[in-house]
Amino acid sequence: MNEALDKARAFEEQYGPFIPAEQRPAFHLTPTIGWMNDPNGFSRYQGEYHLFYQYYPYSTEWGPMHWGHAKTRDFLRWERLPAALAPDQPYDRNGCFSGSAVELPNGKHLIVYTGVCKHLAEDGRTVETQTQCLALGDGVNYQKYSKNPVLTQADLPEGGSPVDFRDPKIWQEPDGSFRLVVGNRPADNSGAVLLYESPDGMDWHLVGQVDASHGQYGMMWECPDFFLLDGKQVLLVSPQEMSPVGLEFHAGNGTVCIIGSYDKAENRFVREHIQAVDYGIDFYAPQTLEAEDGRRIMIGWMQNWNTVAGKPRDCRWFGQMALPRELSIENGRLIQKPVRELEQYRRNPVSYQDVVLNNQEINLHNVSGRMIDMTLNIRPMGEAVYDCFRVSLARDGEFVTTIRYKPDTSILKIDRTRSGSNADIVHTRSLLVRPQGGVLQLRLILDRYSVEAFVNDGEQAASVAIFTRQEAAAISFEASGSLILDVTKYDIVMD
Ligand code: FRU
Repeated sequence: MNEALDKARAFEEQYGPFIPAEQRPAFHLTPTIGWMNDPNGFSRYQGEYHLFYQYYPYSTEWGPMHWGHAKTRDFLRWERLPAALAPDQPYDRNGCFSGSAVELPNGKHLIVYTGVCKHLAEDGRTVETQTQCLALGDGVNYQKYSKNPVLTQADLPEGGSPVDFRDPKIWQEPDGSFRLVVGNRPADNSGAVLLYESPDGMDWHLVGQVDASHGQYGMMWECPDFFLLDGKQVLLVSPQEMSPVGLEFHAGNGTVCIIGSYDKAENRFVREHIQAVDYGIDFYAPQTLEAEDGRRIMIGWMQNWNTVAGKPRDCRWFGQMALPRELSIENGRLIQKPVRELEQYRRNPVSYQDVVLNNQEINLHNVSGRMIDMTLNIRPMGEAVYDCFRVSLARDGEFVTTIRYKPDTSILKIDRTRSGSNADIVHTRSLLVRPQGGVLQLRLILDRYSVEAFVNDGEQAASVAIFTRQEAAAISFEASGSLILDVTKYDIVMD
């Protein structure tokens, strides 16, 4: 009956244990085996947080999409569950693409996902259609809905593409009804977000368009999310084929946060501010949930389509989730901080205050490691502006990942050129930061195969995947000119 799913479950059960725990990140989720991309179905269900993901267990390349599955109570310690969906129906036989989930009043977990189906057109070309489909489950096993698909080409506005119609994000309204946003390619061939409504989560109809790219912020808008945050309405989208804009948006697949106001009765979203979500190299397709205590928590795929060729040769898993982040809005901008639960796993504190660096490079006793949470405060010495500050991470004689800051331009540059990948992909990214009174704060979180930088208490975030061998664990600090540095470092231990 569920042949494809049974096969995937048997495969992951048999081969998942072949990957030793120390060859994975300790607190970032990786696929049970094989390939992972977008986070899916990030939701609260019966007192726990569930996270599904785009999954192809049989290789470390993207393939016909399944949904992998895990759950957590604290966003850091993940319990693996068997794969939840496999492509096994006429409407999703070429893939169960991204989607989301919500707990229904009757205690069921409702998944809404994109079914992909390819067929041969009369002119000999292969045509793909994408439709929105449902599955109902109990937190482990999910049954696809007999009336799938529930949203098809017939539910699109005029000119909407049935080929690029994907990634529904569902939520429940205070009045008990349900809404979802979904990405679509409108008649102008760029990107748009459509809004649908349902009394019960099962029967859906179009409300209208929420916002659109008009070719300005990339083309097809993938993986939308739409939520209230600190009195503002936030629209997250992951556009394809973006044009670069200064140091704010890089070319290719990006992440865009649009903050505005929303008139629900009129379905009118008015933009007030637009910014990148993550300024690093590896971050895409983020999705949020509302935690039990009201926090808006976001998780993203800590990879990017433009860099997936950079994988190590003999890996058995590829793709990892970023550290979940708490979102807020301050001064009209998006603030992102690592989930506070991380602090429970901090061990072995080491702290240095007022370290003077004067045209030199230093190591600090006990400041090293590959599973760490480290905060740096960097400030000029007196009036003189220093030329450059550099922190080198995951370092040995051969490998190093660096973060460099130049106060004269306010540019922070992350460089993972020598971080274990020999692929000719993007290895550096620069971002414009805004130090407060000349003080730059950097919180750096390392978890074996990644570096996530949070600048100035969450004003900006930048993530990169690294592939450096674990023995490369040294950390050093370097200044051209004179500056003063504070360092606080903890090991993260998942005991
Ligand atoms: C985004 C995406 C989605 C799609 C999924 C397929 O990374 O392209 O639009 O649903 O990945 O795996």
